[in-house]
Amino acid sequence: MRSVLECKQLCVDSKASKPTDGRGRYEAGQRRCNTCGVFFDTANMHCQCCGTKLRTKPRSKAGKERLAAVHSRSDTTAAEAAAPNPAETKTVSAPEPKRGAKAPGSKPQKSRSGAAATAAAAATAATAATAAKPATTVSATRGPNLGGMDWGLANRMASIIRPEDNRALMLAVDHGYFLGPTERLEEPDRVIAPLLEYCDSLMLTRGVQRTSVPPTTRTPMVLRVSGGSSIIGEDLSQEDVTVSIQDAIRLNASALALSIFVGSKYEYQTIANLGRLVGQAQEYGIPVLAVTAVGKELGKDARYLSLACRIAAEQGAHIVKTYYCEDFEKVTGSCPVPIIVAGGKKIPERDALELTYNSIRGGAVGVDMGRNIWQSDHPVAMIRAVRSIVHGTNDADRAYGMYLDLAKSG
Ligand code: R5P
Repeated sequence: MRSVLECKQLCVDSKASKPTDGRGRYEAGQRRCNTCGVFFDTANMHCQCCGTKLRTKPRSKAGKERLAAVHSRSDTTAAEAAAPNPAETKTVSAPEPKRGAKAPGSKPQKSRSGAAATAAAAATAATAATAAKPATTVSATRGPNLGGMDWGLANRMASIIRPEDNRALMLAVDHGYFLGPTERLEEPDRVIAPLLEYCDSLMLTRGVQRTSVPPTTRTPMVLRVSGGSSIIGEDLSQEDVTVSIQDAIRLNASALALSIFVGSKYEYQTIANLGRLVGQAQEYGIPVLAVTAVGKELGKDARYLSLACRIAAEQGAHIVKTYYCEDFEKVTGSCPVPIIVAGGKKIPERDALELTYNSIRGGAVGVDMGRNIWQSDHPVAMIRAVRSIVHGTNDADRAYGMYLDLAKSG
């Protein structure tokens, strides 16, 4: 029997606003789901809510002709325009509804600030004002070269950086490996559970994975395999590889993560560890994510981060995690593998969303964010807002409006 497609209400966050620049919805590249009855800013063929094939053209003959006329005009204009290098720009792609079926509210947490409520009205106005912005042009995002990889490696990479849009939303919960019970991550299982369906992958230690993540999850695990020092010890940069490749395989790791401390006392040890780890992991088709650690003595500017990222890539890292900085394009532009940006310490939600937006504009594939999600008063609202930038078309204003709306209703 033919199954009946029906709207599961998963599309509510992803409806596209009507263009206000005079263009029609189809003309602006939007697609319509006849089942859900809404338009999306998406490149997907099927509705992420109900699975219906999306309509890319109007139904009426007159509408189709109008659209064809517009396309032929814009093709001519594009051909005439002296675009510097079309391959170097990319249009922010499809909005992506959440994974999974239902939208749980965020777990109530200790109140941090009352500012969200008072800012709600202003943000809603800002959302309305910016909703009509055209799609944003951003720097080229360097995705993985899956074609050059063996099947297992390519398959694991594709589970972390989603091939549909070349983007990644990684949720970082590995902080305890040197910080112990980090604020608001005291009970990892309770923190992780409501967020799991909204991230593409989870970065964590084997201890947290075994104790705090249900083995039934389909979310890929990025396993931290380096450690050995603590926040109260002598030198945080003195890390070694602490997990064997066999244990990583037992844990079904989709990638291994290790920090390098370029310019520190233990620079040699951590970089050599990276090189060795890549060699071992490669044998089993497991990608390695190198984390360029920063600290009091280590810089956080484009010069330092370019150096650290490039060194990580030269050692064979498949993905590099680093920090956002001024002139970030220099960092992404000189690193031959995909870069993902760490969130860093807790900042106001609006700023963390701006960081996400700027990172992607600057050529990162996405964010590996921790504290700015689970130290928020509304972690689920926050991860959904971050997701609407990483996999959607929201800018920071629109994502912040979404955060406030979800926080209010959650
Ligand atoms: C850093 O090495 C930690 O392992 C975290 O994974 C990383 O800093 C990302 O988390 P956050 O967004 O809290 O900075």
